[in-house]
Amino acid sequence: MRIVVLVSGTGSNLQAVIDAVQSGELPVEIAAVGADRPGTYGVERSAAAGIPTFEVDFKDYPDRAEWNAALTEAVAAYSPDVVVSSGFMRIVSPAFIDAFRGRYLNTHPALLPAFPGAHGVHDALAYGVKVTGCTVHWADAGVDTGPIIAQEAVDIEPEDTEDTLHERIKVVERRLLVATLRQLALAPALPN
Ligand code: GRF
Repeated sequence: MRIVVLVSGTGSNLQAVIDAVQSGELPVEIAAVGADRPGTYGVERSAAAGIPTFEVDFKDYPDRAEWNAALTEAVAAYSPDVVVSSGFMRIVSPAFIDAFRGRYLNTHPALLPAFPGAHGVHDALAYGVKVTGCTVHWADAGVDTGPIIAQEAVDIEPEDTEDTLHERIKVVERRLLVATLRQLALAPALPN
């Protein structure tokens, strides 16, 4: 199974995938890692691991449609079986979703459909729920919507801040992402 991973930031989920591939635990080929802006640590980590990288900088394009077209082309060039949004903080267009329909995987730091969007950890904490968690799902054209593949709960502690809670969620999220990719790689056919 060939994957392309998209990142916007530090890429600790990506690093868990890289580590699992390198240790032989995850029978997946990381064909490339792409980012929506220059200078992400996620791209730096990938380059250090010898993985091809690309950047489709949102600021280089006159509008979202052109950026989306360029991103779609850049990802398609690596012929991935699965595209993983791993902390990729941009909404992609329906054209991108169509190009990778049923093959675009997203991880989200909340128990969807609760707390979608860019501030899922903050929003769960602000609401006062006692349990949150993370979700791995097939992404459609909505914001953190699409069929759920796996979820795991994380308790919120009274003393939690957004940072401490997000760090605990990410420990679980990394494991869940690797386990889900492993399950998909070993399955005879990808679900769609
Ligand atoms: C993850 O919690 C992801 O779900 C969210 O942003 C975080 C990215 O972390 N959208 P990292 O870049 O993998 O460290």
